[in-house]
Amino acid sequence: MRKVRVAVVGCGKVSEHYLPHLQQSSVVELVAVCDPLIERAQRHAQAYSIEHAFQDIDQMLCEMNFELLVNLTPMPLHASFNRKALEAGRHVWCEKPIATDLKEAQVLLALAQQQGVGLWGAPSGPISPAFQSMAKVLSTGTLGQVYVAHGIFGWSGPTWPGSAWFYQKGGGSLFDLGVYNLTMLTGLLGPAHSVVAMAGTAIQERVIAGEIIPVEADDNTALILDHGNAVYSVIQTGFVYAAQRDDWTIQVIGTNGAMTMGGYAWSPRDVSIYIGDQMKASGQWETVWQGPDGYVFWGGATYIAECLAKGEKPLLSGEHAVHVLEVMLAALRAAKTGHRIQITSTFPWPLLKEGE
Ligand SMILES: NC(=O)c1ccc[n+]([C@@H]2O[C@H](COP(=O)([O-])OP(=O)(O)OC[C@H]3O[C@@H](n4cnc5c(N)ncnc54)[C@H](O)[C@@H]3O)[C@@H](O)[C@H]2O)c1
Repeated sequence: MRKVRVAVVGCGKVSEHYLPHLQQSSVVELVAVCDPLIERAQRHAQAYSIEHAFQDIDQMLCEMNFELLVNLTPMPLHASFNRKALEAGRHVWCEKPIATDLKEAQVLLALAQQQGVGLWGAPSGPISPAFQSMAKVLSTGTLGQVYVAHGIFGWSGPTWPGSAWFYQKGGGSLFDLGVYNLTMLTGLLGPAHSVVAMAGTAIQERVIAGEIIPVEADDNTALILDHGNAVYSVIQTGFVYAAQRDDWTIQVIGTNGAMTMGGYAWSPRDVSIYIGDQMKASGQWETVWQGPDGYVFWGGATYIAECLAKGEKPLLSGEHAVHVLEVMLAALRAAKTGHRIQITSTFPWPLLKEGE
């Protein structure tokens, strides 16, 4: 199989996961890394035998020949870097979100189409075997009509040096964490038609590497999505969670049973189903899928490179990433105004791998 030449921009925390995963793929050739903190880029270049380290993305795009840019920069930089790469005719895999503004994201998607390249964004949950096993259960109708789903995930929030942007405008717990369950639940139940939400800043100041910073973005958020036909899902997330049970963080409930996912949307552990009407006749929860299975949340870029090498259409789509962004932005507006906000975008659905 042919190799795909890949360059990575942003050599921070998450790149420590991405780079070894990309490196172990037989179709990936890592050709360049870029970070304004050049010693970080050079360290990665040395550790992963990458020939070129750059300080500036424009220079990397101008001087290097590669097919896929993996964008691992802070969220507020995503849109402008994605645009540069697409304009230069490169495919892009971007950590979430692909932009922080809806119009900008739609323009990026149109630009990708115009350039004949792809734009894809994390989270990659729908390619996980856990998601696929849930999508398969839903496709068989075993649970009856599914009208209800829940997803919850939060933690106490980043504190590492350089993480202040998570709390500033363009950051926030919904964009950083809620995005995982939002991708899973829209992926399972289909596009959202409208959203209502609460989003607030519960803790006004954070300490990052010994420095007190004011918090501008949401750190506690709850959304209700309307997927049409009276199908509703509820998503909660935040940077105010000291702990939560993880025996189910996603629950999907139908008229003939229910299904739960243990672990987190970025690291699923198991999937269980209950067939029957619990209050009327006792049944049993049965595990229908159990990890570990090799899925890791940082595997999306490798998956895209492998699809490019095989000439296969990826299950993940830029349209889904734009849809999830629209829902997140609408949720923040809904929370501010107290209104229910209509969603206009959609994406190819259902997300069931062929042969699964
Ligand atoms: N940290 C995690 O565990 C994690 C998990 C999932 C997703 N993500 C996502 O990954 C992305 C990066 O997060 P992170 O935690 O690695 O952040 P980080 O702050 O640790 O790293 C970001 C890197 O980008 C670099 N950068 C800043 N400006 C740049 C520029 N102009 N050109 C090139 N590089 C630049 C920084 O120097 C830094 O090395 C974000 O979208 C985040 O949401 C992070």
